[in-house]
Amino acid sequence: MAKKKDDKKSTQKSENNVKQHKASFSPFFLFASIAVVIFSVSALQFYITLTSVPDLPQLDLDKCWGVNCSVDESIRKFRIVFSDAMLENIRRKFETYRRATRMKSLEESASYGINSDALGQVFAHWQFKYKYPARQRYFNHYEHFKTKIQGLDVHFMHVKPQSKTVKVVPVLLLHGFPSSIKEFYEAIPLLTEPRPGYDFVFEIIVPSLPGFGFSQGPVRQGLSAYQIAIMMRNLMQRLGHKQYYVHGGNIGHNIGTHMATLFPREVLGYHTTFPINFSRVADLMWLVGSVFPKWVGNEFADRMYPLSEKMAYYLEEFGSLHLQSTKPDTIGIALQDTPLGLGAYIIDRILAFTDPTHKLKEDGGLSSYNTTDLIDNVMVYWSSGSITTAMRLYKELVKNRDIEEVLAQIPTPVPTWALRPKHELYHSPDFILRWKYPNLVGVTNFDEGGHYFALEKPTVFADDLFKAVNSFLKLKK
Ligand SMILES: *[C@@H]1O[C@H](CO)[C@@H](O)[C@H](O)[C@H]1NC(C)=O
Ligand SMILES: *[C@@H]1O[C@H](CO)[C@@H](O)[C@H](O)[C@H]1NC(C)=O
Ligand SMILES: *[C@@H]1O[C@H](CO)[C@@H](O)[C@H](O)[C@H]1NC(C)=O
Repeated sequence: MAKKKDDKKSTQKSENNVKQHKASFSPFFLFASIAVVIFSVSALQFYITLTSVPDLPQLDLDKCWGVNCSVDESIRKFRIVFSDAMLENIRRKFETYRRATRMKSLEESASYGINSDALGQVFAHWQFKYKYPARQRYFNHYEHFKTKIQGLDVHFMHVKPQSKTVKVVPVLLLHGFPSSIKEFYEAIPLLTEPRPGYDFVFEIIVPSLPGFGFSQGPVRQGLSAYQIAIMMRNLMQRLGHKQYYVHGGNIGHNIGTHMATLFPREVLGYHTTFPINFSRVADLMWLVGSVFPKWVGNEFADRMYPLSEKMAYYLEEFGSLHLQSTKPDTIGIALQDTPLGLGAYIIDRILAFTDPTHKLKEDGGLSSYNTTDLIDNVMVYWSSGSITTAMRLYKELVKNRDIEEVLAQIPTPVPTWALRPKHELYHSPDFILRWKYPNLVGVTNFDEGGHYFALEKPTVFADDLFKAVNSFLKLKK
């Protein structure tokens, strides 16, 4: 009996053992299953947030950005004037600079900021070779106008073709920072002249973005790229263009892409020299590409990788963007006080963003530019005193990131053509571009040029715009 009891005990014991065993295993399985469920749900959630397309936000198309919000649809003629008082002021500032002790750059350096030899060349050119009356005539060689849009005076150039024999199509050309209307001066005559093989020419509208050059800046916060897109659309409507083509480069791309997204029935075709569409998936793809560059970066993997080099480049060159998007008014005071300082800041950005190897050259790459052209561009900012209001756009882009990103996630049906310059700051491969632009009609991969493409390569730019719009027109037939 006792033995039996013992047996029972031992079976009970072993049962207990099994139970205990079970008990010590089940939390593990429980945790594992919970973990799997949590992981799957969050992966699904992640996938959904990555890929879902948000609704188009409701936006006020008449929001007023000025002091005087009364409606005025008149279109007034405008002339760019380099006033005697302004020129006298420049001369005085130059004289002070000439007498001051000059700071010399370190030997063989352009990566510490603008190289002093390069700046010396700009200074000499500006003092002795830059002829203000001739440059003023040059600027006014196209017709200029101003009109009030949403409470702000918007300046624009309007160039109509001479030829009456071929079809005329309107195109809006959007500049960026720190470029200006000057970016398109050389390209305009190439676009308004009929050319063999094409049965159309362009009617050109080149605005100064609000706050840039001769367009008024807003008096209140919030005029971000998508709000400028609305203003630019209203400008085209004011000029009687219900439908039109749009081109954008650098920040002009941020605006142009929003126009194509917000007004797909008005924008007949979109041409960009900064073909990017930032998003979380794109960033993820860029990281994936560091392991499989050929797969994600396709034919221009060498332009985006090695990742570490590209990141280092951004860290080194994007300090200005950080400053502009945090304290534009502070740096603005320094830049608005000195024409040469303003010139140094603007020219340094243009040299750095058009070719990263410029900083390895003794003159910072200045010799690859026409100095008069560079000073013209600086004069747009100086004569209008607009550098601060222009830089504020960066702050608005960051502050209004939410809506900017929502709009970037909404695909546009507008036919799109992308020109990818070799030294552009960032490259999205074609398949990523198609997420945003499912109707990507053509892509030109160009082996030169950078962020200010129309300024650098006006002929290539004009050729490409003709090619693009020709394809857009063929789609309609
Ligand atoms: C506001 O603008 C309108 C139209 O441009 C003009 O007639 C009016 O005089 C302006 N008012 C003020 C206070 O400037
Ligand atoms: C530079 O540009 C100016 C004005 O656009 C032009 O008159 C001049 O001939 C150009 N200089 C050179 C060396 O190309
Ligand atoms: C581009 O657009 C697509 C579709 O609207 C969107 O899902 C994506 O987030 C955007 N950005 C990039 C870089 O693809």
